[in-house]
Amino acid sequence: MPEIIVPETSMPETSKSAVVGAAPDGTIDPRSAARAVREMFTAIAPQYDLLNHVLSMNADRMWWRRTARVFRNMLTRPEARVLDLCCGTGDMTFALRREAGKSSPRIVGADFSHAMLQRATSKSSAENRSTPGWIEADALNLPFPGAHFDLVTSAFGFRNLADYDAGLREIVRVLRPGGECGILDFGEPKGAMGALYRLYFKQVLPRVGTMISGVRGPYAYLPASVERFPAPDEMLSRMKTAGFAEADWTPYTFGIAGLYRGKKP
Ligand SMILES: C[S@@+](CC[C@H](N)C(=O)[O-])C[C@H]1O[C@@H](n2cnc3c(N)ncnc32)[C@H](O)[C@@H]1O
Repeated sequence: MPEIIVPETSMPETSKSAVVGAAPDGTIDPRSAARAVREMFTAIAPQYDLLNHVLSMNADRMWWRRTARVFRNMLTRPEARVLDLCCGTGDMTFALRREAGKSSPRIVGADFSHAMLQRATSKSSAENRSTPGWIEADALNLPFPGAHFDLVTSAFGFRNLADYDAGLREIVRVLRPGGECGILDFGEPKGAMGALYRLYFKQVLPRVGTMISGVRGPYAYLPASVERFPAPDEMLSRMKTAGFAEADWTPYTFGIAGLYRGKKP
């Protein structure tokens, strides 16, 4: 089984003023928010994949594939360096690997939950092509030098960061000039579809998630975290402030999910 690299790092210092980021119930600052998020994902790691597929009705697979396809040009460069942030059990990372085809870019999945990474490594051995590397790391304090990666992706992870602006600045830091970033995350669809979706997301999903995982918090936190996440216009403006020259958003499946793309000048 591939090993998980665990570098020595400390929790990042985040400014307490005007921090916008995930804040699970009962947390009082970015540090306690990050800890609560890590504990939540660690608690649901064993059932995470099953729940993902059931609760999204398998749309998750389509969204990961579609995101990977967007970056095909980058992924088919044999010398490319790719980082999949908040990789969890690795499904976005594997989608990137598959899109690379016969090419062999260096792909690394990073997450701060050891339990989630353990699931990723166990799935890694089942893939027969060259497998991604895995590293235990905080997205707000990455153990990589500046200008290291050609592509940074994150699927359904960025929304969980305790400080979105710090997360974006860290992505810009590790990207090479001309490098690209793709952040896939949930959105809030509008109109009749939105009303239906909110009913499902707020009433059905937390109950089914809690029932299957046996853990109460995470599936109530999920809709709350999507509500708290900036709307596309605000997120795009935050991306530009963080240092992306170009930024755009493409809705997937009526805007239930969507891909933010940014390019470092
Ligand atoms: C909803 S899961 C997404 C996993 C995977 N990308 C997917 O699409 O299924 C969110 C992941 O983000 C990770 N995460 C949240 N905040 C993080 C941080 N500050 N640094 C690293 N990982 C983080 C969690 O541990 C969790 O595995």
